[in-house]
Amino acid sequence: MLLCLPGMVRAQGQAAPVTVPAGFTLPEGAGDRIYPQLGDAGLDVLHYDLSLTSDPRVDELSGRAVLTVTALRELAQVNLDFEGLTVTGAKIDGTPARHAQVGTKLLLRPARPVPAGATFTVTVAYRGTPPLHLDPADGLRLGWITQAGGSYVLSEPDGSHTFFPCNDVPADGATYSVHLDVPEGFVGVAGGVPGDPVTAGGRTRASFELPFEIPTYAMTVHVGRLQVVPRPGFAGVTVRDVFPRDVDDAVRSSFGSPARMLEVLSGWFGPFPYPLYGVAVVNDPQIPALETATLSTFPARAQGERVAAHEMAHQWFGDSVRLADWSDVWLNEGFATYAEQLYLEAQGEDPGALPARWYSSLRNAPARGLVARSAPQLFDTSSYLRGALALHALRGAVGDGVFREVLRTYVTRFTGRAVRTADLLDVVRDVAGQAGTDAVTPWVVGPDLPPLPPAS
Ligand code: ARG
Ligand code: ZN
Repeated sequence: MLLCLPGMVRAQGQAAPVTVPAGFTLPEGAGDRIYPQLGDAGLDVLHYDLSLTSDPRVDELSGRAVLTVTALRELAQVNLDFEGLTVTGAKIDGTPARHAQVGTKLLLRPARPVPAGATFTVTVAYRGTPPLHLDPADGLRLGWITQAGGSYVLSEPDGSHTFFPCNDVPADGATYSVHLDVPEGFVGVAGGVPGDPVTAGGRTRASFELPFEIPTYAMTVHVGRLQVVPRPGFAGVTVRDVFPRDVDDAVRSSFGSPARMLEVLSGWFGPFPYPLYGVAVVNDPQIPALETATLSTFPARAQGERVAAHEMAHQWFGDSVRLADWSDVWLNEGFATYAEQLYLEAQGEDPGALPARWYSSLRNAPARGLVARSAPQLFDTSSYLRGALALHALRGAVGDGVFREVLRTYVTRFTGRAVRTADLLDVVRDVAGQAGTDAVTPWVVGPDLPPLPPAS
């Protein structure tokens, strides 16, 4: 029997009435300040084991996801984010579980409630055509995308649940194993350390291990006529880039030297968080770059070294140190943007130029404090440029030595953990004292634009 509820579930911008099958209840969402309906506060996903079978010549995907989850409270129902694909079977701890897909949620009923503190597995088999999921703020297509003979994912902030069932909030970091099964002649690459691919029966299978906790949107997959190109690494970090075979040389060579970039940025932030890194180029010149863990995603466009440095910096700030709430996204974008300055300075460029440009952009935009209040603010000028200038102001006030110590303390304290703005302010106070706090606070609190800090 289908029970029609008077309430509605909001499915990413469009309000559609939903029916909740008898025996299931409509979940609350984890209560993120920008995306309150995403996730479930009762779940801590530890690991996703994803097997994805795809053929980029047809827009279809079949998958099997095994989630290892700790219950943070007693769970009569397990609620995951999942949109568009059809679930063909679900188990909890190996036993078939009743399930229902309601709006953008997959609801599962364990045979008996999972006690608080218990760790259990959820296995979901699914297939279908990944849905069209647009970022409501800017219309960007998110999730699993098949085009131009290839498939890729672009998930920030909430596209991941178009290709695997997940707790789609940045606060819940998890480790990953990904197994890709693609037609022979295609190459599948996911984030993480690759095993050896095996081709048999017209299919190529390859596995990838990512034993570091990352947010869901930082998980990446690319399938296509791809080429994996080794590059010189730095300090034990292996570098490989992934290009569509037919990509322009101008694009291939636009990312600068990853070894030099790793050297400069690790000089400020401490050791690179992963054993490997690289860029993956997507056959679309329009998409934004995205800091997918161990393998940043870029459009097929020569964007240059600044963007390359930006995405590399996100591996520390966003992927390794992740957000507790989307409203604090400036902690990702401000740090990554400031890394552009740190890199260009190290390459001998005028240290005053970029901050002056940032400042004049900010004067032409509405001023706001750094904590975002709405989805359109997440990736706006303030998140990026005001965020970067907050760090520039701190550096100017306390000097390079103390600034470096702030960055490293923040990274060390919060690697593998979720941060809020208050956590950064605690580090600033602990390491840089009152002078540091006084320099950074007016930028954080706002709304007025403080004066441009002097060049350091
Ligand atoms: N974090 C990406 C960057 O490197 C930007 C992602 C933009 N996402 C979006 N839905 N508009 O700056
Ligand atoms: Zn960024």
